[in-house]
Formats: sequence, C-alpha cells, structure tokens
Amino acid sequence: MRATARRHPARVRAAHAATAALLLVTAAVAPAQPPELDYLQFCLGCHREDGSGSARNGVPDMRGVIGRFAHVPSGRAFLIQVAGVAQAPLDDAALATLMNWLLPRMDAAGLPADFAPYTADEVARLRAARPGDLGALRAQALADLAAAGHVSATAAADPP
Ligand code: HEC
Repeated sequence: MRATARRHPARVRAAHAATAALLLVTAAVAPAQPPELDYLQFCLGCHREDGSGSARNGVPDMRGVIGRFAHVPSGRAFLIQVAGVAQAPLDDAALATLMNWLLPRMDAAGLPADFAPYTADEVARLRAARPGDLGALRAQALADLAAAGHVSATAAADPP
C-alpha cells in the first residue's frame, strides 16, 4: 500500500483512498442498506432514477401519483401488493423503510398529511394476501379515491 502511494501522483492516491473507503462503507451497511440504495438496486432498472419510468415499456411514472394512493386502504394495499414491490428481494422491514422513503420523494404533495408509515407487520400482512388481479385493485383504489374526493393525478391525466 505504501509502495503504491509513493509511485502514484496524489490524485491517484486520493482515488485509491476513496475506493477503499467506499468498500469499507459498503461492507459496513450490508445487508441492511439505506432505502436509497435499495431503490437503486431493485427499482431503478425499470422506474429510472427519478421515478419517471418508461411509458413505452409499460412502467408508470410514479411522480405526483403514488402518494395519493395512501389516502384509501385499497390504495395503501396496492402500493405494497403491486408486483415490483411485493416481490422485491427485501425483507418486510426493509420494504417498509423503502416505501416510507419513496412516497414523499415521488409525491410529497399527494401524500396524506397524517400518513402513518408502513410497518414491517403491515407489509408482511399485505404481501401474504396479494389478490390475483392487481389491475383491478388499482382501479378499485382510483374509484375509492374519487369517492373520497381525491382526484388522482393518473386518473386526471388519462384520457376518458
Ligand atoms: C421489472 C421491472 C420493475 C421493477 C424491478 C420494479 N417495478 Fe415497479 N412497476 C413496474 C411495472 C411494469 C409497473 C406497472 C404495474 C405492473 O405491471 O405491475 C410497476 C408499478 C409500480 C408501482 C405502482 C405505480 C402505479 O401508479 O400504479 C409502484 C409504487 C412501484 N412499481 C414501485 C416499485 C418499487 C418500489 C420497486 C423496487 C422495490 C419496483 N417498483 C420495481 C415495473 C417494475
């Protein structure tokens, strides 16, 4: 290590030090890593870093949309039961943390002011009781939102 430091200019030594520090940090946070890293690892591939998704590939834009679902029980369930979330290779506690981190980031304005964060127990219960037709559950959530007087950004954006 010292020989390397002598041979390389300061810039390269700094880069080596940064890499070593990163490896230490990575080792220290595994297996329970912060939610932003879980998002990068398990969601970003389809949803993109900013949550904009890919309309062409059927991945919905989460921005200004998903927080609103939390106003009604059907929507709250849908957010956990949708395939990409329920089937993520994360335990219930990590998934709860990820969603509690993600919702205000993607739709702070839509999230209820009194949003009760997901708990590991709630996530476990919802994962174990996934309905067969998630599309129908999403439609139900939108209907429940409309009935409760919440206009969903998605419903508003969709042509009739
Ligand atoms: C393989 C691609 C893929 C991955 C990985 C993925 N998703 Fe998705 N996600 C989708 C698709 C496609 C949909 C649309 C519904 C469906 O087809 O399941 C969706 C829907 C959603 C929705 C509902 C949005 C809405 O308006 O209906 C949420 C919330 C969501 N994903 C969150 C996540 C999170 C959080 C992760 C990471 C743990 C994740 N997804 C991983 C593809 C993915």
